[in-house]
Amino acid sequence: MAVLWLFFPLATPIVAVKQYMWRLFEQHSCWHTGIMIKIPNAKMKQWLKIERIPGLLASVYIKATRMGIDNYYRPVAEEIVSNMNQGLILDLGTGPGYLPVEIVKKASDVNIIGVDLSRKLIKAARANAAKAGLEHQLTFEVGNSARLRFKDESFDMVISTGMLHSLKKPVAVFRETYRVLKNGGQAWFYDPAIIAPHGGKEWKASLTFHEKFFFKLFTGLKIHQPAKPLSLQKIRSIIEATDFKDYQIDDLKDEVRIKMKKVYIST
Ligand SMILES: C[S@@+](CC[C@H](N)C(=O)[O-])C[C@H]1O[C@@H](n2cnc3c(N)ncnc32)[C@H](O)[C@@H]1O
Repeated sequence: MAVLWLFFPLATPIVAVKQYMWRLFEQHSCWHTGIMIKIPNAKMKQWLKIERIPGLLASVYIKATRMGIDNYYRPVAEEIVSNMNQGLILDLGTGPGYLPVEIVKKASDVNIIGVDLSRKLIKAARANAAKAGLEHQLTFEVGNSARLRFKDESFDMVISTGMLHSLKKPVAVFRETYRVLKNGGQAWFYDPAIIAPHGGKEWKASLTFHEKFFFKLFTGLKIHQPAKPLSLQKIRSIIEATDFKDYQIDDLKDEVRIKMKKVYIST
């Protein structure tokens, strides 16, 4: 009896937690066996999402992106420089920093700060800047795009390639982008960066045994999956939750290119 009295006050929170947990899953019929199974719902998937490139895949990712320098980063850099050839740029989710390197090669009056969650990729980005002899124009640091350390209106332009699809809090990132941009400044988000349409074979051949093993393991366990662009509807809903009013979205089918401008509405 005493046990029941003890259990009773605990029962309500236990049931509430259980109900909450069940709400994070949805029921699906397994196509193979017909058995009903529970799989994480969209909210749970977002919560479980891994934003940063896992450390064990960093070298695999660096090798893949290196193959995209000529056909992706260089043309994108040219486009950015034709829009802005002096001032301070912030590159969110900078990875190994190939895009910032290509930009400052073309614009000696541009300085760039690149931010990324991954320590390994920031280390690689610093090494790439040093190799190109461009450390004086490039700064790379570990940081979260959803909580930037910079003051309001610090940057002339914000750029980002290949990060949007992996974000847990895209609205927070776009709000931070708006905050740190100067009035009239633009933010360009290209996602996912389609870097090496022809480099796949060459890239696979360049991987060591360990790199192939971890790549297969992470993709097999679905921890790392091929990136897909967000739907246009989702992108619009993210932008509309921010103060960006002036924006354009180009749908290139396997990549979206978002260009937003910060314009104050004076009261
Ligand atoms: C697919 S990579 C693209 C890297 C680089 N921009 C490029 O085009 O090669 C996405 C990068 O975004 C970083 N990332 C994801 N979420 C982030 C966040 N909230 N803040 C900063 N970096 C983030 C990951 O660690 C990863 O390096």
